[in-house]
Amino acid sequence: MASTLEPKLLLVGGGKMGSALLAGLLAAGWASPAEIVVSEPDSAQRDRLAAAHPGITVVDAPIAAQDVLLAVKPDVAEGVLRTLGVVGVMRVLSVVAGLSAQRLEAALPPGRIVVRAMPNTPALIGAGTSGLSGGSVANAEDLDWAEGILDAVGTVVRVPERLLDAVTGVSGSGPAYVYLMAEAMIDAGVTAGLSRDVSRQLVVGTLLGSARMLEETGEDPVDLRAAVTSPGGTTAAAIRTLEFKAVRSAYIEAVAAAVERSRQLGR
Ligand SMILES: NC(=O)c1ccc[n+]([C@@H]2O[C@H](COP(=O)([O-])OP(=O)(O)OC[C@H]3O[C@@H](n4cnc5c(N)ncnc54)[C@H](OP(=O)(O)O)[C@@H]3O)[C@@H](O)[C@H]2O)c1
Repeated sequence: MASTLEPKLLLVGGGKMGSALLAGLLAAGWASPAEIVVSEPDSAQRDRLAAAHPGITVVDAPIAAQDVLLAVKPDVAEGVLRTLGVVGVMRVLSVVAGLSAQRLEAALPPGRIVVRAMPNTPALIGAGTSGLSGGSVANAEDLDWAEGILDAVGTVVRVPERLLDAVTGVSGSGPAYVYLMAEAMIDAGVTAGLSRDVSRQLVVGTLLGSARMLEETGEDPVDLRAAVTSPGGTTAAAIRTLEFKAVRSAYIEAVAAAVERSRQLGR
C-alpha cells in the first residue's frame, strides 16, 4: 500500500502519450488530480500540464512512489528505471515501445514488477486501444491493476509479450494510418469541388459511422464493403482503383515495417 505521502500513481514522462493517459485517467475518475504526480523534465511541458489539470503535482525528477506509469522514449527508459529503483518504486506499467519486460526488469532492482502495454493516443478522449502483457514476476493482481489503468482510457486486449510488437504495428501506430487516410480523403473531396470544411465533415462522419458499423454489427469488413458495392457502380470503380494502386498491400507492408521497427527498438 502507498503511504499517505506517496501518490496513487507516479507518471514518468508527460509527453504526448503520458499526457493522453493522464487526461484519460482524470476524466474517467480513476484518480483525483491530488493522487497523481507527473515527473517531466521539460519546464514548458510541466507548465502546460499543471495548467490543463489543476490540482496535479508536476515535478522535474521522479519522487518516491510504489506504482509508476512509464511513458518516456525508449532510449532513456532504462536510465529512468535505474533512478526509479533507487527511489523505491515497486511496480511499473511501461508503455515504452519495443523494450522487453526482461530489459525493463534488468534495469530495476530484483523482484520489482513490470507490466508492458502498448496504448494509442485516442486514450486522450477515453477511446484508446491497448495491448497488455505481464513481465516475469507480474501476477494476476498486477495485470488487473494495469488493465484498470488502461480500461479507464479505452479498451484492453491481453496478449503474450511476443505479440506486443504486432500490437504496436496495428493499433499503437494505427491512428496515424487513419489520419493519413483522412487527410487524403479530405484532399480528394476538395479536388472534387467541395469546400475543405464540408469535405472534412463528410470524411470524419464517414470514418466514425464506418467504425461504429464494424463494432456494432460485428460483421466482417469484407461483407460491409460488399454491401456498399453495387455491381458496376461508383464504389466498385473506386475499389478497383484502390486495388490497382495496391492500397491493401501498402497497409500490410506499413504495419510490417512498424512491427520490424518496434523489434529493432527492443534490441
Ligand atoms: N505517441 C504514441 O502514439 C505512442 C503510442 C504507444 C506508445 N508510445 C510510447 O510512449 C512513450 C512516450 O512517447 P511519446 O510519443 O509520448 O514521446 P514524447 O512526447 O517525447 O514524451 C516523452 C516525454 O518524456 C519526457 N522525459 C524524458 N526524459 C525523462 C525523464 N528522465 N523523466 C521523466 N520524463 C522524461 C520527455 O521530456 P523531453 O521532451 O524534455 O525529453 C517527454 O516529455 C514512448 O516510449 C513510446 O514508445 C507512444
